[in-house]
Amino acid sequence: MNFEKIKKLYLTKIKEIEKYNKKYYDESNSLISDQEYDKLKLEIIELEKKYSFLDHQKSPSKIVGFKPSKNFLKVKHQVPMLSLSNAFSENDLINFQKKIINFLDKKNDFKIEYSVEPKIDGISASLIYRNGQFVKGLSRGDGKEGEDITENLKTIKDIPSFISAKNFPKEIDIRGEVFIKNSDFKKLSNKFANPRNAASGSLRQKNPNETKKIPLKFIAYTFGYEKNMQVKFQSDFLENLNTWGFKINPFNKKLTGIKKLLENYYDLEKKRDKLDFDIDGIVYKINDLDLQKRLGNVANAPRWAIAHKFTANSSVSKILNIEIQIGRTGALTPVAKIKPVNIGGVIVSNATLHNEDEIVRKDIRVGDTALIERAGDVIPHITSIDFRKRVKNSKKYIFPLKCPSCGSNTIKEYNLTTKKTDAVRRCSSEGYECEKVSIEKIKHFVSKEAFNIEGFGKKIVENFWKLKLIRLPQDIFNLDFKKIENLDGWGKQSVKNLEYSINSRKNISFERFIFALGIRHIGLENAKLISKNLKSANNFLALTKTDKINELVNIDGIGETQIGSIKHFFSNTTNKKVLNELVKILSINDSLEFKNDGLLKNKTFMLTGKLLGMSRAEAKSLIEQNSGTIISNVSKKLNYLIIGDKPTKRKIISAKELKIKILNQDEWMKMLNKTS
Ligand code: IVH
Repeated sequence: MNFEKIKKLYLTKIKEIEKYNKKYYDESNSLISDQEYDKLKLEIIELEKKYSFLDHQKSPSKIVGFKPSKNFLKVKHQVPMLSLSNAFSENDLINFQKKIINFLDKKNDFKIEYSVEPKIDGISASLIYRNGQFVKGLSRGDGKEGEDITENLKTIKDIPSFISAKNFPKEIDIRGEVFIKNSDFKKLSNKFANPRNAASGSLRQKNPNETKKIPLKFIAYTFGYEKNMQVKFQSDFLENLNTWGFKINPFNKKLTGIKKLLENYYDLEKKRDKLDFDIDGIVYKINDLDLQKRLGNVANAPRWAIAHKFTANSSVSKILNIEIQIGRTGALTPVAKIKPVNIGGVIVSNATLHNEDEIVRKDIRVGDTALIERAGDVIPHITSIDFRKRVKNSKKYIFPLKCPSCGSNTIKEYNLTTKKTDAVRRCSSEGYECEKVSIEKIKHFVSKEAFNIEGFGKKIVENFWKLKLIRLPQDIFNLDFKKIENLDGWGKQSVKNLEYSINSRKNISFERFIFALGIRHIGLENAKLISKNLKSANNFLALTKTDKINELVNIDGIGETQIGSIKHFFSNTTNKKVLNELVKILSINDSLEFKNDGLLKNKTFMLTGKLLGMSRAEAKSLIEQNSGTIISNVSKKLNYLIIGDKPTKRKIISAKELKIKILNQDEWMKMLNKTS
């Protein structure tokens, strides 16, 4: 068989399996017998093994999850379901603990007790109980909104339908993990790639009777919304869960100190294979719930918890080539094209080499044999080179000094914070002047977390660019759809769909808009913070005219780097043109303030001096949580100057001159109905 024929055969099989998957997951319906399905799956995998050029996103060797079914109603979580930040090393843990100690303004030797819980790799669910009755169960969804999977959850024996215990709160969301035991997974037919997929697929069945067929388990570990729960420690909460009739993880522990955490980590990692459920790490949570409350959240993960991930899977392969990718911020990223290998069930053919320094440090060359590691969702990377296998005439890799796309010089910037030269080399052109950077910027603009224009994927951006249909983001909203209709691969209906999805996104939230602009150092979380603070796109545009931009430094999380980057962005005429054009075309919604009725509503504050038992970050976050605003200068706009130990005298004098109320920490705490 020739190349074309093999590829065609392969694609036909992929299409076929996709059809069965869709039917199975969306309609809980099987079009073929289990045996036929397994045979087809095996045929695809065999083909891939034999012909390394075969590769497809939808291949059973790649699929790790299925898109949410349309079968379920979406319901908002009363308290969002957060995710966890990851730690991979002892250093990450030290930093995690340091940040907590700083935030809480404790001494360096402050002992933190952790609730230590194995991280089961399943599907999280939130169970809503009212007056002891299990009334509704939701999947995590995007964290804000989940799917109503009550009926399916009701089939799980580990989930009590009624709890009569006296100390069970009147209202509470019990959260935990739905999973399938490895021994039960083995008994299932080959339809799922791993136990996690089996649990997810089963939970998403339209028909709860189908869910019932797969023995799902539930382990509880946290809560969302609760009313009047009288618990002070996470470990006590876990104990309560047990007495209320929930299963909890038998390996849960209470530990103090990083040394103990590490001992437990290595111990559990050794036991990992012998457990009857998959764990991908350990979750450490500050045990004291009052401290958890003080620490709060950064963006969509709590400050008070972290997931310590287990080490990755790795394989050996050969480096076939080194290619340079150019990102939307101009960063030149070297990527090793490797001979495809299976690492932990996923076929890997690319491994990032991070940056120029990494190649030099590890002396990585084309033709080398390398150890490639893949950890969780992280992009595969090269851990080491087997120098014994290096061919005699191999040459050192020379990193390009000119941008391979536009020919501009490449530069390594000096980082003001770290006081070091960046490891990353960048194209020195300004944004839209470089073709590759422009394409990446537009890909980012239409991407899921930015404008989320359905059907406008990366390939389409590249294609439209080649055809000169787009050069700048605003071109997306002025496309010639008649012309597109005549292009290869497009038809009346698909163009209509595209037009519809583009038009439907003309109405956009302010935070998505900021994020979509692709300003360096302004990721999703920073975009959220800025939008919450500035409230409207007009205020954002006004940043160009006044020195208001410097005031962004008052936002917890925004610093000099981000501000410098925004200034740089505004200094470019094309960026300004893009911004002005977009504002004309789009309807950008002002950001909604979630809770704007706190005790400090409409009041402005400034802090000077050291507060007792509280870091500056915590003080800021406390003011913001209670709807107050922080400003950075003593001016007529300031309502209160809060003074701590060793305040700046000049600030007090100016405040007195302007008759601004001066508060000490106790007086400020009284405003918040608290004692310090
Ligand atoms: S606590 C805000 N505890 O890990 C805290 N999560 O990346 C978030 N998970 O979606 C949840 N075991 O599916 C927590 N003992 C445990 C957990 C656990 C597994 C999962 C859960 C969550 C993900 C966070």
